Amino acid sequence: MTQPVNTAAPDAAWLGDSLLTWSQSIRNGYIRAFVIFALHETGVFETLRRRGAMTSAELAEACGVNAHLLDGVLHFLLHADVVLAKDDGRFRLTKRGAEWLFADSVLAMSFGAVGAYASILHELVPCLRNQKRYGVDFVRPGDLLAKGSYYTGKGNYDWIVAELKRLGVARVADLGCGLGDVLVGFCRLDARLEGVGIDIASGALQAAAERVRDEDLAHRIMLVQGDVTRPESFAAATANVDAFHGLMVFHEFLRDGEQALVEIFERMKALFPGRYLIVGEFDRLSDAEFQAMPLAERIHPLFYQHVIHPLTWQGLPMEKERWLRLFGRAGLTLLKVEDRFRFRLVEYVLRF
Ligand SMILES: C[S@@+](CC[C@H](N)C(=O)[O-])C[C@H]1O[C@@H](n2cnc3c(N)ncnc32)[C@H](O)[C@@H]1O
Repeated sequence: MTQPVNTAAPDAAWLGDSLLTWSQSIRNGYIRAFVIFALHETGVFETLRRRGAMTSAELAEACGVNAHLLDGVLHFLLHADVVLAKDDGRFRLTKRGAEWLFADSVLAMSFGAVGAYASILHELVPCLRNQKRYGVDFVRPGDLLAKGSYYTGKGNYDWIVAELKRLGVARVADLGCGLGDVLVGFCRLDARLEGVGIDIASGALQAAAERVRDEDLAHRIMLVQGDVTRPESFAAATANVDAFHGLMVFHEFLRDGEQALVEIFERMKALFPGRYLIVGEFDRLSDAEFQAMPLAERIHPLFYQHVIHPLTWQGLPMEKERWLRLFGRAGLTLLKVEDRFRFRLVEYVLRF
């Protein structure tokens, strides 16, 4: 018999402890999620941060957006949140707004959970009715996904670059490189490192190329279109790399089952024997672990594990022990595991 789940409601106050507060906190959270994302994406918050207090008309002019609509959502946020204030008709960020809106966790949520994944909730009704399916009828926007992933993963970069140095890696291939932020971040941390970025999405690669040019790193970072599920597609471009790296990328292929991922690693081992592989992946939680966490801390991993993953047909993410078994099945040698990162990310250092 399994344990009953959620018999107590220790955090009811956080959710609202009356019908009014509970129901209106849902409305408020839903609206703020979209408004905060939109004001980041259109540069409104950044403009307020840089230029200080401005009227909605001045802000609209500066950001190239519609003044009437902007005025509406700014007033909503003014009264429904703690991030904005208004003096003499001019909006400004509060102290909390200036700090909280630009926190990595909030940027990851805005660009990733809202920007990239709003569609899975918007399309939930037809998907539940089997009238639509993620991947067939709609997909997440790749540029926003990569932007959100950057804010989720960047806290790991120092540790990974230290590992690459320790292993004597001079050239690393980043698989599923997205907008190139991982390689740009790594190259900034280690002035002699070079990188090859591989991604399947041409839009992401184009944006990555611009980013690499802007950062003046085109002589150190090469970008190539390739498919991680077909290592032959990037074998030539990565012929002289010492290590491969994939952050929040490999779990995507579990949608084809664990064996499919084992076979990808086996093919890589055959093509790149002796090279290093660094994998960063989310560590799945059990029901009991979720229940033991304060409610506010549960939401991010819950969304990732039980909303994003099933609704995009990626299957359930795996826990650390299962990743270790999978690497073993593919014949990879485990050199190190580190799990002290945010967002329950675990880094595995392996060798083909
Ligand atoms: C969650 S994002 C991670 C981006 C980046 N690693 C980071 O941490 O910021 C996943 C990336 O994998 C790419 N991707 C998905 N399937 C792929 C495939 N079969 N081959 C290559 N890249 C793929 C996506 O286009 C996307 O840029």
